[in-house]
Amino acid sequence: MPLLQIGLPFSSRNARDNVAAKGKVTMPITTCVFDAYGTLFDVNAAAAQAAAEPEHTALSTVWPALARDWRLKQLHYTWLRAVADQHCDFWQVTQDGLDWALEANGVMGDATRARLLELYWELAAYSEVPAILATLKAKGMQTAILSNGSPDMLQGAVSSAGIGDVLDAVLSVEAVGVFKPHARVYDLVEQHFDCMRDAVLFVSSNGWDAAGAAGYGFQTVWVNRADEPMDRLYAQPHHVLPDLTTIPELV
Ligand code: LAC
Repeated sequence: MPLLQIGLPFSSRNARDNVAAKGKVTMPITTCVFDAYGTLFDVNAAAAQAAAEPEHTALSTVWPALARDWRLKQLHYTWLRAVADQHCDFWQVTQDGLDWALEANGVMGDATRARLLELYWELAAYSEVPAILATLKAKGMQTAILSNGSPDMLQGAVSSAGIGDVLDAVLSVEAVGVFKPHARVYDLVEQHFDCMRDAVLFVSSNGWDAAGAAGYGFQTVWVNRADEPMDRLYAQPHHVLPDLTTIPELV
């Protein structure tokens, strides 16, 4: 059961206090699980970097809109494919989303498309990520990524960010053949770590992912990097933070 649901008073920081006040016992966190794209890795970095390169001046003014459209279509396609039972891997929807975004923004050229896709394999991590993961490991936490990304995409991003040694597992939806927020994806954490759902702190910058994980039964943090409104869904995240820097205070 989610600890907080729509209709109950929402607190960005005190979910555990709220639960305690209702007389329920909250499990101590043993396992911190992170969404990848947008949470650990900056999904706008590919378009920003390509736009700064002399070969891709067509991106110089449109790259923010292109990056936004690319991300939105990529995610739309994951949800549509999950509902339609038409799974493909995340690399396919990443390419399909980019093709839509390039056309929508009037950007032509195979070389620019190829460069954007190349950069997606080595996205920069947000600056606080390595230190926060290291702090969580030093506190005795198990740490993992749980992502829509295919195993090879995730391996590329993890190794280019240099965070492989502070992660105990990199879990991909490809193990279950459906995208988030399907419960079979969140099941991968229990299966891998053999831990209770509410001993897991799940962290995502995607509001719908944090809500889905809260509905599943994880304790959750929504990293609201873009200062967006709360998604109106079947559950709400327990904590809302601007970035990852105070995550260690929650465990
Ligand atoms: C992921 C997407 C949802 O990494 O950001 O799973």
